Amino acid sequence: MLVVSTVSELQEKHRHLKKAGSRTGFVPTMGALHPGHISLVEESVKGCDYTIVSIFVNPTQFNNPDDFKHYPVTIESDLSMLRDAGVDLVFMPEVKEMYPEEDNRVFDFGGLDQVMEGKFRPGHFNGVGQIVSKLFDFVQPDVAYFGEKDFQQLAIIQYMTRALHYPIEIVPVPTMRERDGLAMSSRNMRLTAIEREQAILISRVLFEAKERRIRGEALVGIKAWAEGEFAAHPMFELEYFDIVDAFSLQALHTFDESDNPVACVAAHLGQVRLIDNIRL
Ligand code: PAJ
Repeated sequence: MLVVSTVSELQEKHRHLKKAGSRTGFVPTMGALHPGHISLVEESVKGCDYTIVSIFVNPTQFNNPDDFKHYPVTIESDLSMLRDAGVDLVFMPEVKEMYPEEDNRVFDFGGLDQVMEGKFRPGHFNGVGQIVSKLFDFVQPDVAYFGEKDFQQLAIIQYMTRALHYPIEIVPVPTMRERDGLAMSSRNMRLTAIEREQAILISRVLFEAKERRIRGEALVGIKAWAEGEFAAHPMFELEYFDIVDAFSLQALHTFDESDNPVACVAAHLGQVRLIDNIRL
């Protein structure tokens, strides 16, 4: 496994690895890797001839400087997990390498960035657009893998790929969960033992929302019940529990409005902000 930190090394090694007709898979990450990230890597190793992974904590997508400052960094264990998973090339640039000049580009995501995460994390998706477009330009993969855990991010990357005509296939990968249901996330490392125990509320509410939908309960009833569950747990501060259409991401009022409803939640637990979602 090669590890490089500059764009020119990346491009030179990639040219070397890539043979005519071969498929390059790409998994962008911010490191602090866990089995959820590795499931993306495994899909790429299975489906492609070469797999490139990037590790870069992108400052432009953090609307909260404290979140950026405390974002976990676990390089040694990241590299050993990637080596074991069969990755060919790791790109680990410094901030100056990715942003030699300030990036003032403003992306139009057709309104997909105005709801949910976009409402509570202003500028976040523009930063994601800046870094992912740079990475796509530098790596030029055939396939790129994104987790359904970040459902809105996935929809926005699919939109950007279409809008900018990137010749890249975007492959969604299902959310990996801990045994008790909590969606794996680099931010889980920052939960205290008590918070970690409480954190299962998020997936429990999502799973029960799905059961309620199957039982025929109305959307407004499910939303009110879910919000009540969070209100009853003082350790949580709920930002939103929205049931949206999987493609437009617009909030639904009844299940008749969409064939693909998804329940999305964001909540603060102590210092940590967690998100999760489930298809209903
Ligand atoms: P990061 O949070 O490190 O996530 C990297 C990729 O792993 C994303 O596609 C994310 O959806 C996926 N992922 C995270 N947890 C997962 C889980 N439990 N199951 C399955 N997939 C999971 O998302 C980012 O980084 C950044 O925004 C990035 C796209 C790298 C741009 O900076």
